[in-house]
Amino acid sequence: MTDYSLAQYEETCAAIAGLTPLRPKVGLILGSGLGDIAALMSDAVAIPYDQLPHFPTSSAPGHAGCLHIGMLLGQPAVIMQGRVHMYEGYTPQQVTFPVRIMKMLGVEDLVITNAAGGINRDYAVGDLMLIDDHIDLAGMTGLDPTRGRHLPDLGPRFTPLNQAYHRPHIIKMQQSAVAHDVRLHKGVYSFLVGPSFESPAEIRLLRQLGVDAVGMSTVPEVIVARNAGIRVVAVSAITNMAIDDPDAAAITTEEEVWENVEQIIPRLRLLVQNFIQTLEE
Ligand code: 6GU
Repeated sequence: MTDYSLAQYEETCAAIAGLTPLRPKVGLILGSGLGDIAALMSDAVAIPYDQLPHFPTSSAPGHAGCLHIGMLLGQPAVIMQGRVHMYEGYTPQQVTFPVRIMKMLGVEDLVITNAAGGINRDYAVGDLMLIDDHIDLAGMTGLDPTRGRHLPDLGPRFTPLNQAYHRPHIIKMQQSAVAHDVRLHKGVYSFLVGPSFESPAEIRLLRQLGVDAVGMSTVPEVIVARNAGIRVVAVSAITNMAIDDPDAAAITTEEEVWENVEQIIPRLRLLVQNFIQTLEE
């Protein structure tokens, strides 16, 4: 557990405020490949995470990550290009530190994308899935990011997670998908810390639990965003079908995941851009 103090959050915010007068209202946490949406920004500042006090930086060499703050398709926005994961060894509090910073900067709506393994038999590699709800197996077993010291200024002690994924935003995304002829499922995402992929028996278990897709991110950020009262919408790219048969010759690899991200990005990008463009003031 990492207990940050209010003063630490405030230090990071002050550092950001010293670099830009812009007050972002929309936040985006984008998985690899989508981060170049930042190139669409105008009047933007790009702040490497390692130049901000307390900000978690990725353990992958050369991938510290970058915070972009500027106007995005008519909205004042903050984009996290690169994020840290719990599988790197970060605590849930470290992973979600940037979400609290977003709140303090003024963010009201948060868009999250991720890569996930498909579990629902109706899904195929390359599909997109709106997250309708989640099963937080890590949170249920003690890794809830809001556990620990309670800072009443940042949100309530106990976070409601019904309608965690903002219903009007879900409808907006679905309408946009129909208008652009993009196949978009809606389902339950399960978060597991990783970095090992699930065993076939675990995938069959998750299917029995009602899970449609599984991944290693997003849920901690969603919980902290809801604790802060931020509206959330999240989309998973189904980069591979999770393997549920111990006799299957196929194996899940990181290479497979990345190869398939490539072909999904244009559609995911379209949905995200459309969403930002049509977000009311
Ligand atoms: Cl199969 N499992 C998990 N946990 N994360 C993934 C995945 C599978 N495929 C992409 N990301």
